[in-house]
Amino acid sequence: MTRRILVTSALPYANGHIHLGHLVEYIQTDIWVRFQKLRGNTCTYVCADDTHGTAIMIRARQEGRPETAVIADMSAAHLRDFAGFDVAFDNYGSTHSDSNRAVCHEIWGALRQAGLIVEQEVTQLYDPSAQTFLADRFVKGTCPNCQAPDQYGDSCDKCGSTYSPTDLINPVSTLSGATPEIRTAKHLFVQIERLHEFLTEWTQSGKHLQEEVANYLKGHFLGKPLRDWDVSRPAPYFGFEIPDSPGDYWYVWFDAPIGYIGSTADWCAARGERWEDWWKNPDVEIHHFIGKDITYFHTLFWPAMLKTAGINLPERVHIHGFLTVDGEKMSKSKGTFVMASTYLKHLDPAALRYYYASKLGNGLDDLDLNLEEFVAKVNSDLVGKVVNLASRTAKFVEATGLSAEYPDDGGLFAQAAAEADAIAAAYEACEFSAAMRQIMALADQANRYVEDHAPWTLKKDPERAAELQQVCTVSLNLFRQIVIYLAPVQPRLAAQAAKLLNCPLDGWEDVRRPLVGTPVSKFEHLMKRVDPAQVQAMIEEGQPAVSAPETTAEAAPAAQYQDGPEALANEPLVEAHCTIDDFVKVDLRVARVLEAKHVEGADKLLQLTLSLGGDVRRNVFAGIKSAYAPEALVGKLVILCANLAPRKMRFGVSEGMVLAAGAGGKEIYVLEPDDGAKPGMRVH
Ligand code: 2FM
Ligand code: ZN
Repeated sequence: MTRRILVTSALPYANGHIHLGHLVEYIQTDIWVRFQKLRGNTCTYVCADDTHGTAIMIRARQEGRPETAVIADMSAAHLRDFAGFDVAFDNYGSTHSDSNRAVCHEIWGALRQAGLIVEQEVTQLYDPSAQTFLADRFVKGTCPNCQAPDQYGDSCDKCGSTYSPTDLINPVSTLSGATPEIRTAKHLFVQIERLHEFLTEWTQSGKHLQEEVANYLKGHFLGKPLRDWDVSRPAPYFGFEIPDSPGDYWYVWFDAPIGYIGSTADWCAARGERWEDWWKNPDVEIHHFIGKDITYFHTLFWPAMLKTAGINLPERVHIHGFLTVDGEKMSKSKGTFVMASTYLKHLDPAALRYYYASKLGNGLDDLDLNLEEFVAKVNSDLVGKVVNLASRTAKFVEATGLSAEYPDDGGLFAQAAAEADAIAAAYEACEFSAAMRQIMALADQANRYVEDHAPWTLKKDPERAAELQQVCTVSLNLFRQIVIYLAPVQPRLAAQAAKLLNCPLDGWEDVRRPLVGTPVSKFEHLMKRVDPAQVQAMIEEGQPAVSAPETTAEAAPAAQYQDGPEALANEPLVEAHCTIDDFVKVDLRVARVLEAKHVEGADKLLQLTLSLGGDVRRNVFAGIKSAYAPEALVGKLVILCANLAPRKMRFGVSEGMVLAAGAGGKEIYVLEPDDGAKPGMRVH
């Protein structure tokens, strides 16, 4: 019997781009969904951008445009990145949608009706200049415990203590630099303690969560009363206003998971269905895929909301670990914080999909992207074992096609077909690494067959043409089986193989029937080896052009600096004096890079959007592309010559010049003001 399955991945925030860490989850989910579809199950994969909250509101203010414009741009970028990695959603929505608002209203009504909502006063820091309450990460100050300066509002990096932002010494708002005030406001809370018994039963049933997750919840939360959950934020806040509490907005984490349903509703509306057919239908299985950092929201709050609203609970919440690169946290300075779009400039998405699959199990362990192993594994397995089967045999049967009857292969095909259930069970249980191992063992056997029967030797003897056709028929059938098994991970390879063999590879059960008597198309290249130089180029692109020197508390003695004379030799000092009057004509300003992008058709230029504070913006084309990746510039403070006469260029008008030193090429160093400078300040 076919199953009806609804699958979700966590909704990415609309205030950042997709990176390789995010992709662990989207690739994992996409593989699982493709597997279900290949098995003939009815499976729908929905996701959306998570758009609400203070961070987007502040970003929109900084960029001087409405939140809706910010989230529309980011949604387009996310969709581009996901498509680049063949992550195929059935629907990709937004939490800022009418459908989501409608479901929020329904769930809120149910929570009210159940009497679970209470009001409480909350005391928080408030930024009088930005006119908003400050979430913990928007306040910095001195740690009340160890006096370390420059610590965030909730915890200290130096001594590890946690505290309330109101305890910080000399707090400063990171939004405006203003000193925050302490203010009190009414918030709305959900009393999830009232669902404690249900949550214990649901989380500990052994059915819905990995064992380690169930134990974590039991040990950390369920052994004591559950704290009320604060679900409202006072205006100004970018989100949905709470219908029966004007001036209050749902906290982003209230409407984010509801976005799973909102996105389903959009998909249903386009097909004349109702979301309730999926979310209120006991025959549908709901599967969430998430990272371990958001366990709490998906295993306590979310089930509590669903239960109260009479909506299906997830059949399973699949939780994965984080990505490390070469054994360490992804790092911007090491270039290992790689954006999806950067990867795609240098490498084949199929390589990452295979590598992640080969490392993913059903546990919460972190997944390490070891760059050397990545190159070796993809080249040895995908290119050396799988693609090789076709590239070494297909050309010999282009003219004849496959034999009319399946030849005696010593039981290889039947043996590989008999693995179908075990490989399916591994995919089903999210044990992808086990599935990849089983598939590669079959590829090893198939390669041994090809080696033993050496079709390239048979080709030389016209008398052995029939034997050649038989050997190639076996080899291509084993290739086809392997590609079907791999299809959830390698959809492009499956499509290319289908073209080569003139037969769709879209049903799991097809591994049990050999293909005979069919034509074989002209062999086209299927996949390139990964060149370590491409990996290196990707890492270099992610690295900041100039790494900040390590700072030490004590100033180094001057003798330590041994600066050579080359710079002056290259560009001697200008002899002619300029007067102070000449100098003040040049209006130099501190500016912040809001956006930096490549300019199509320009080898040297980057297009920068600079903020001079408030909503004053400048568009500048800067010839710094050879030394800076655009993402390395975003957020940086630079010095802008603000009154340089605007210059009309082929790509648009450049409204100023960013100051930089250096001889050109890789040697370009953008000038940055010292800490504390603010956009708009004049340089004297
Ligand atoms: O952690 C995050 O990136 C959140 N944006 C995930 C939301 S998942 C769901 F609840 F919407
Ligand atoms: Zn401290």
